[in-house]
Amino acid sequence: MNERRPVGQVKEVTSLANPIIKDIKALALKKFRDQQKAFMAEGLKLIIDALDLGWTIKTLIFAKTGKGNPAVEKVAARTVASGGLVLEVSEKVLSAITRRDNPQMVVGVFEQRWARLADIRPGNGDVWVALDRVRDPGNLGTVLRTVDAVGAKGVILVGDTTDPFAVETVRATMGSIFAVPVARATEADFLGWRAGFKGLVVGTHLKGAVDYRTVDYQGRPVLLLMGNEQQGLPDSLAEACDRLVLIPQAGRADSLNLAVATGVMLFEVRRGALKIGGGA
Ligand SMILES: C[S@@+](CC[C@H](N)C(=O)[O-])C[C@H]1O[C@@H](n2cnc3c(N)ncnc32)[C@H](O)[C@@H]1O
Repeated sequence: MNERRPVGQVKEVTSLANPIIKDIKALALKKFRDQQKAFMAEGLKLIIDALDLGWTIKTLIFAKTGKGNPAVEKVAARTVASGGLVLEVSEKVLSAITRRDNPQMVVGVFEQRWARLADIRPGNGDVWVALDRVRDPGNLGTVLRTVDAVGAKGVILVGDTTDPFAVETVRATMGSIFAVPVARATEADFLGWRAGFKGLVVGTHLKGAVDYRTVDYQGRPVLLLMGNEQQGLPDSLAEACDRLVLIPQAGRADSLNLAVATGVMLFEVRRGALKIGGGA
C-alpha cells in the first residue's frame, strides 16, 4: 500500500467488499484506528491544509463526481507523489466509509501524530490546555478548534480520554486537528511533567476561590487545566494548580459546558495577545 506510484495512477473501487475499503471503514472504531495508527478526515480544503502542514496521507478517496476537478487532481497527484494510494469510488462506497447520506467529495486517511509530553517545554506567553479525562468527542473537537483560534500551543489529554482521531472529533475540529499538537499522559506522568513546569498552572473549578478575570496571565507560560464533564477536577489535579479559578455565573445552570468554559478561559488568558479587530 505504500509503494511509490506514478502520478495519475488511480484505482477504481465500487465494491464494499474490497479489502482496502473494509480497512478504511474499520477506522470508525478506535481499536482499528490504534492498530492502523491512522484516521479519516473529510473535505478537500481540510485535506489540502493537512498536506500543507506536512501530515502524511496514506489514502485519498474521491467520488466519481470529483474526476476532472483540478483541485482534486492536484491533491491526488500530491498523494501519489508522497507514496499514498488514490481511490476513485462510487457514491455508495463513499457514503459507507463516511456513514453519511451526502458525503463530502473527498476523504483522506492520514497517519496519526502525537506530541510527546517530554518535548513540551512552554516558553513565556505560551498557553497549553490540559483536559482531565475528557469524554465527549464534540467537546474535544471544539476545544481543539478554540485552541487553534486563539493561538494557544496545544492540548494535553490526561487519563482515560476520548480519542482525538475519532471521526466526530475530527469533524468538530473543522481542520484544527492538523494545526494543534496533542499529547496524552496518565495522570501520574502528567503530574511528573507538571513538577518541572515553571509557568502558571490555572485550574478551573466550581469551588474556585478566585475570579478568573483577576489573575495576571501575562509574561509567563500558562497551563490551563480543565475538569472532566461529569466530575470536574479530582483533588489530585486540583492540588497541583497554582490557582483555582471560577467563572462566575448568574442563572440556574450549575456549570458551563466544558468546551464553553475552555473558550471563556482561553480568550481571557490570551486577551493581551488578541488585539486584532478589538475596536477602540
Ligand atoms: C461541566 S463542568 C463539570 C461539572 C462537574 N459537575 C463539577 O462538579 O465540576 C466541566 C469543567 O468545565 C469547567 N467549568 C465549567 N463551568 C465552570 C465555571 N463556572 N467556573 C470554572 N470552571 C468551570 C471546569 O473545568 C469543569 O471541571
